[in-house]
Amino acid sequence: MAGRPHCAVVARDGRVAIRIASALAMLPLLCVQPAPAAVPDREIDARVERLLARMTVAEKIGQLWQVNGAAGKIPDDLRANVQAGRIGSVLNEVDVATVNELQRIAVKESRLGIPLLIGRDVIHGFKTVLPIPLGQAATWNPDLVERGARVAALEAAASGVNWTFAPMVDVSRDPRWGRIAESFGEDPYVNGVFGAAVVKGFQGDDLSRPGAIAACAKHLAGYGASEGGRDYDSVSIPEIELRNVYLPPFKAAVDAGAVTLMTAFSDVNGVPASGNRFLLTDVLRNEWRFRGLVVSDWESIRQLTVHGLAADENEAAFAALTAGVDMEMVSTTYRDHLADLLAEGRIRAEQLDAAVRNILRVKYRLGLFDRPYTDPAAYPPVASASNLDVARQLATQSLVLLRNNAGVLPLSMKSLRSVAVVGPLADDGYEQLGTWIFDGDATISRTPLRAIRDLAADGVTVRYARGMETTRSRSTAAFARAVAAARASDAVVVFLGEESILSGEAHSRADIDLPGNQMELVRALRAAGKPLIAVILAGRPLTLGGIVDEVDAILFAWHPGTMAGPAIADVLFGVESPSGKLPVTFPRVVGQVPIYYARRKTGKPPTPGTVVHIDDIKVRAPQTSLGMTSQYLDAGYQPLYPFGFGLSYASFSYSEIQVSQRAVRIGEPLTIRAVVTNTGKVPADEVAQLYVQDLVGSVTRPVRELKGFRRIRLDPGERREVAFKLEPGALAFHGRDMRLVTEPGDFHAWIGGSSEADLRADFSVVAE
Ligand code: NOJ
Repeated sequence: MAGRPHCAVVARDGRVAIRIASALAMLPLLCVQPAPAAVPDREIDARVERLLARMTVAEKIGQLWQVNGAAGKIPDDLRANVQAGRIGSVLNEVDVATVNELQRIAVKESRLGIPLLIGRDVIHGFKTVLPIPLGQAATWNPDLVERGARVAALEAAASGVNWTFAPMVDVSRDPRWGRIAESFGEDPYVNGVFGAAVVKGFQGDDLSRPGAIAACAKHLAGYGASEGGRDYDSVSIPEIELRNVYLPPFKAAVDAGAVTLMTAFSDVNGVPASGNRFLLTDVLRNEWRFRGLVVSDWESIRQLTVHGLAADENEAAFAALTAGVDMEMVSTTYRDHLADLLAEGRIRAEQLDAAVRNILRVKYRLGLFDRPYTDPAAYPPVASASNLDVARQLATQSLVLLRNNAGVLPLSMKSLRSVAVVGPLADDGYEQLGTWIFDGDATISRTPLRAIRDLAADGVTVRYARGMETTRSRSTAAFARAVAAARASDAVVVFLGEESILSGEAHSRADIDLPGNQMELVRALRAAGKPLIAVILAGRPLTLGGIVDEVDAILFAWHPGTMAGPAIADVLFGVESPSGKLPVTFPRVVGQVPIYYARRKTGKPPTPGTVVHIDDIKVRAPQTSLGMTSQYLDAGYQPLYPFGFGLSYASFSYSEIQVSQRAVRIGEPLTIRAVVTNTGKVPADEVAQLYVQDLVGSVTRPVRELKGFRRIRLDPGERREVAFKLEPGALAFHGRDMRLVTEPGDFHAWIGGSSEADLRADFSVVAE
C-alpha cells in the first residue's frame, strides 16, 4: 500500500488482530489523522490482475458466492469453504471475534489469502438507531444525513462489518409498499441527493481507512413501483420513465462513489432485475462506466427459476452472470453451475474474470488485504453521547408538523399544569425504532413519555395511560383510564400510528389508515374537551382517516429511532420549532395512489373550479357537466398534504424571485434566487425549495420538478437570500429516442416552502 501504514498487527488473545494506534487514528473519517494516500486505481488494477492470474476456476467461482453467517459460530462446512477459497463474502455475522476468525482463516489458511467482505444491513443506524430513511429525507438536510451514515459506519465497522446494503434509492410513489420506509420518498432528485449523502457518510473520502465501509445502492431498479404496492410484485415502467425517474438516483449514488449495487427482487417489464442485461450491463457498465461490484438480492438468482425466466438453476446462473451480476447472495447457482457452463463454452473465461475483478477491486479498495482484522477497542464506543446527539438532531429535524389549529402547539411550560400522555406508542422503546434494526438496541431508546417527564417543569403533572395494547388492538377496555387522564389534564398528547412490523420488507398494506381502534380512541379523547395533539409514528404516509378534524395538532414523526423521545418532547414544548417537510405526498384516501407532485401534464388538468363532488351531483346531471378533468368524483385530485409541506412555529414569506438571465443558452448555468423572511416570533429553520416546469417538450413533462432545496435558520424578522445554481444539464431529460437532451423553450420556476409554492419567475432556454 502506498503511504504510511496506519495500523499495526498485534497478537491478541491468541488471535491476530489489528490495533489502531489510538482512537483518534481511526477517525480519519472525522478528519483527525492525516491519512495514508489512497492506492491509485491503476495500482489496484495491477494487483487484481496479478492475483487473478494465480487463481483457479474454483477459486474464481468461490469469490462470487456470499453465504449467510451462523450467528457467532463457524460450522465445519463454513470453515472448510473459507479454507478452500470457495467463499467471497459472509453476511449477517456481527460477532467481531467470529469475523476476525473468519478473516484469519481466509487470509492464513486459504491458498491465496483473499480476505472476506462482511456484509450487513445497516439501514438506519447500528446500535444507535437513526430515523428511518423516509424520516431522514424529511429533514431535507443531506449534511446531517451524511453524518448519520458516518455514525452508523463507525459503529458497524467496530463489529468487523466492511460492507452495508444501503442506501436504498428506490423512488417510492406508493405508500402501500412497506419498503417506502427504507426509501427517501417519491422524488428522483431527493433520492439522488440523500443516496449520495449516505454513500459519502459510509465510505468517506477513502474507503481503505478504518471506519469506512462499502455502500450498496439498491435495488436496481424500479422495485419501488411493484404493482399494487405489493412487495416483490411485477414492475412495468416504460424505458423513458425508468430513465427519467427511477434510474437517476442510482446514477447519483454511482457518481458519489458507491462501490457496490444490489439488484431488485422484482422484474422490470418482464425481465427480472437479477437477469436483466439492459439494466446491469447496457446502462450500468456501458453507459455509466460503473467499475464496482453488483450483488444479487437474497436468493434472487435462484428465484429466476420461480419467476419462470429460467427453467432450472443452471439457466438461472447463466442468465445472471451474462446479465452482469457479479456476486450471488446465499443461493448456490453460481457455485453449482458456473464451472460446467464454462466447460461447455456457454460462458467465456472473460465473463467470469470480469465478475471476479469487480469483487477483488472492492476488497483492495477497502484495504482488506492490508488490514483484514478489526480491533473493536480501537473504535469509539457505540451509542456514545456524540452519536446520540446526531441521532437526536436527525430525529428533531425529521418531525413534520401537519396541523396546528389555533396555535395549540407549542405547549407552554408556563401555563400548563398537567398533560395526559396517551397511546400505544408513547412509551415503547422498541416500536419507535422502525423496520430493519437488526443491531439496534432498544434498551437505550429514549421514549417520548420519559422525555416529556424529564422536560416537564416542576409542578407539571404528567399522567400516562397506554389506552391500547398495540396500534392494532380492537379492545376498548383501557379507554376509560385514558379518557380519565385526559379529563384531569390541561392538554392531551396521543401517540398513534403503526408499529415497526407494519412497514418494511414484505409488509405492505392495502389500507393505510390508522389500524385497530385508534380512531375510536381519538374520538373518546376528543370528548374530554381538552386540546388534543396527535403524534404519529409510522413507516409510511397514512391517510389519517377522519382524525384530521378530530385533533388540534398533528406531528408526523415517522419512526424516529433511539432519540425519538427528546426530539418529540423538544418540539411539543417549543424548545425546537418543527422543521421537517414531507418527502412524499400524503393521499386523502388510498384510492388516490399513486399520487405524487411531479405528475406529467395531461390534456385535461383539473383545477379547483372543475371539481364536482359526488355529493353535489344533480339528479340526471348531463355527462359533461362534471368538469371532464383528471380527478376522482369522491376524492378530487388534491392530496391530504402535498410533497414538501410542513408547518413551523414561525412563518415564512418568500419574495423578490429573480433569474440571473431571462434567456439562458444550453450549456450555461442559471441562478434563481429569492428572499426568505421569518415573519414569525421565534427563530426557526425553513426548507426553501426550487421547482421548475418545462412548458413544452418533445414529450409531456412533469407539472413541476424539484431542482434544489436548502435548509436555512432565520431569526424573527430576519431576511435571507437563497440562490440556486442550475448547472448545465439540470434541465435535461431523456426524450423520445431515450437520449439525454436539453430542449430550448420556456420554463417557469417557483421558490417556496412546498411543492405548492406560488412565487414564480420565468426564463427561456435558447439554442447555443
Ligand atoms: C433482502 C432485501 O431485499 C435487501 O434489501 C437486503 O439487503 C438483503 N435481503 C440482505 O439482508
